[in-house]
Amino acid sequence: MRQPIIAGNWKMHLGRVDEALAFVRRIRYQLNGIEGVDRVLCPPFTVLASVAEAIRPTRIGLGAQTMHWEEQGAHTGEISPMALAGLCQYVILGHSERRAANNESDDSVNRKVHAALAHDLTPIICVGEDLAQNEAGQTHEFIGGQVRAALAGLTVEQAAQCIIAYEPLWAIGTGKAATPADANRVIGLTIRGAIAETFGEATAQAVRVQYGGSVNAENIAAFMTMPEVDGALVGGASLKLDFVELVQRAASV
Ligand code: PGA
Repeated sequence: MRQPIIAGNWKMHLGRVDEALAFVRRIRYQLNGIEGVDRVLCPPFTVLASVAEAIRPTRIGLGAQTMHWEEQGAHTGEISPMALAGLCQYVILGHSERRAANNESDDSVNRKVHAALAHDLTPIICVGEDLAQNEAGQTHEFIGGQVRAALAGLTVEQAAQCIIAYEPLWAIGTGKAATPADANRVIGLTIRGAIAETFGEATAQAVRVQYGGSVNAENIAAFMTMPEVDGALVGGASLKLDFVELVQRAASV
């Protein structure tokens, strides 16, 4: 059985220590009390250490939003896997906003996945098609390619540890989520299918795959009833106090 996982991607919000801590202190105990679902906060780098401290007595997980693949070097502004290891347990890799605005490619995502696993960080690998690809019927081929590229060169054991987030670009921040049935189909046929080709059916069944894109407290339950959907990567709704309710509803399905 795959334990569902809800991750809150704060993006470039709540980056000041005072505002991040004020928010975390209001949700941490309720969030911690929820059973049956892993929950992870992914705040900006500037507050990772403070949030880590604030959630230390809880079972809430912590993740970064990106990282470099090298351990150290002349990479101004970048954060290394060595710096994150010990501070958090997860790292979001290949988010579409970074693929679009920060030149992240399938190749750099793959390097980062290897680096994350080498440092005991669980990668949350984002894949997703844009609207034109979706309307042209290219979703299956495109997402399959992204998944194969991201996982290239991993061992079966490493692949099984990865988390994948299916985030169609047209659903991110738009209020227009994919239908739960469509998300279920892409995750089951395309994403698990691509994993199975290289790593076998058992691995495909072991990998946790989230849906992301306009998930909120109202629609989370419909996604969670889908057999292939193992939780959600949540942007905007993770910045609100009712993120707790969202996680509660995910846990009660
Ligand atoms: P959203 O963002 O929930 O605000 O649509 C999701 C994401 O980008 O991870």
